[in-house]
Amino acid sequence: MNAIELLKKDHQEVSGLFEEYEGTGEGAASRKEELFGKIKSELDVHAAIEEEIFYPAAKQAPKGETKDLVLEAFEEHKEIKTLLGELEAMDAEDERFDAKMTLLKEDVEHHVEEEEGELFPKVQKALGRDRLEDLGRQMESRQQSLAGGREQAEAAEAEEVGGGAPSPRRRVRRAAVPRSSARASGRTRSSRSRGRGRSRSRR
Ligand SMILES: [Fe+2]
Ligand SMILES: [Fe+2]
Repeated sequence: MNAIELLKKDHQEVSGLFEEYEGTGEGAASRKEELFGKIKSELDVHAAIEEEIFYPAAKQAPKGETKDLVLEAFEEHKEIKTLLGELEAMDAEDERFDAKMTLLKEDVEHHVEEEEGELFPKVQKALGRDRLEDLGRQMESRQQSLAGGREQAEAAEAEEVGGGAPSPRRRVRRAAVPRSSARASGRTRSSRSRGRGRSRSRR
């Protein structure tokens, strides 16, 4: 899978998770936290492989057409990470949780639209097929090691906790970890065709 195919696949998976979140019923707090945990895991790893591997390569693409788009993408990642941090600190029962999740979804959709609509076509043209295949291999391997590292850290944390009782929230987050379940969801992304819920003046 080349780099762009890999990133688009991730985008679809996250979009499917947001759709699942929207389908949760009133007051389904533990299901909401579980889905938030999956979304955060997906986005954390996705942002890391973009920032460590894809964006630096894209930024250096010939003719410099992509540099500004990459710089903007880094800034958008920062905004998304801030929201993820705020949500992580909140309880899904908090009356503001859904509102913040909606904001997160809209920010992610906006960012994905810019990547898929503007950045990726330019990078594809500038880097060519072989380079994209090579980047794809590097990103896939990094993705696997990040997912593996997270599982190890969580296992170690569970051991440290030992007989102590982790909070229900921690248990939910841990249960949400295996990437394979998110990866297997295979949902198609339809959010772009639904249009954006919130108008953005920057486009
Ligand atoms: Fe992306
Ligand atoms: Fe991104």
